[in-house]
Amino acid sequence: MIKCKGIQKSYDKIQVLRNIDFELAEGEICSIVGASGAGKSTLLHILGTLDSPDSGMIELCYTDVDSLSKNQLAHFRNQNIGFIFQFHHLLPELTALENAALPAYIYGVDEKSANRNAQLLLDRLNLSHRMYHKPSELSGGEQQRVAMARALINKPKILLADEPTGNLDQSNAEEVLSLLLEMRKEFNITTIIVTHDLNIASRTGKIFTMRDGMIVN
Ligand SMILES: Nc1ncnc2c1ncn2[C@@H]1O[C@H](COP(=O)(O)OP(=O)(O)O)[C@@H](O)[C@H]1O
Ligand SMILES: [Mg+2]
Repeated sequence: MIKCKGIQKSYDKIQVLRNIDFELAEGEICSIVGASGAGKSTLLHILGTLDSPDSGMIELCYTDVDSLSKNQLAHFRNQNIGFIFQFHHLLPELTALENAALPAYIYGVDEKSANRNAQLLLDRLNLSHRMYHKPSELSGGEQQRVAMARALINKPKILLADEPTGNLDQSNAEEVLSLLLEMRKEFNITTIIVTHDLNIASRTGKIFTMRDGMIVN
């Protein structure tokens, strides 16, 4: 479901990714661990088509993403890939419901159905009582669960999470992580979690370690 070969990336002549080959089958989950600066986020962004490699091949959902035009790629991403970042990146002016439904509005789902789907998801993520709150009125754990609803609203095939609990205290981190694992299993979403926390990594089947822009095991 996720496949890349020979991925190279440099910033200002500094090589950040060195010849990365990586594969993940449909429905699999893995984590990527490694020290800060190892290139984890860069790799995740490139796999998520948010950034492009200097060279190498990426296939997502059996599609060579390089063959897509800019518009096709934006549509492909909206349809197939859910992202969760360390910081929620919710839009401050929108309610939890609207933030969660936003990718569905963009997809072209009518507002009523989009809102209904968002409501169901937010219910599942224990946010029934927070639908009409703005992000600033939510706790860190609640904000991150809204971000999770937004990532899942279009039923993506692929979920990419970059330090999803990195900004939370332990009990909120545990709630977000266990909901994430539960939802991705239920929807059979191929998932990568980037983390420097080995306790989190140990909750996924496979663990890849990055060092100096390479996957070392
Ligand atoms: N947009 C960028 N411009 C310049 N350097 C960058 C950029 N993004 C990342 N880097 C550099 O690439 C290296 C890897 O960063 P990153 O992928 O964020 O590592 P990690 O997520 O493992 O901490 C770091 O040295 C970082 O400074
Ligand atoms: Mg990072």
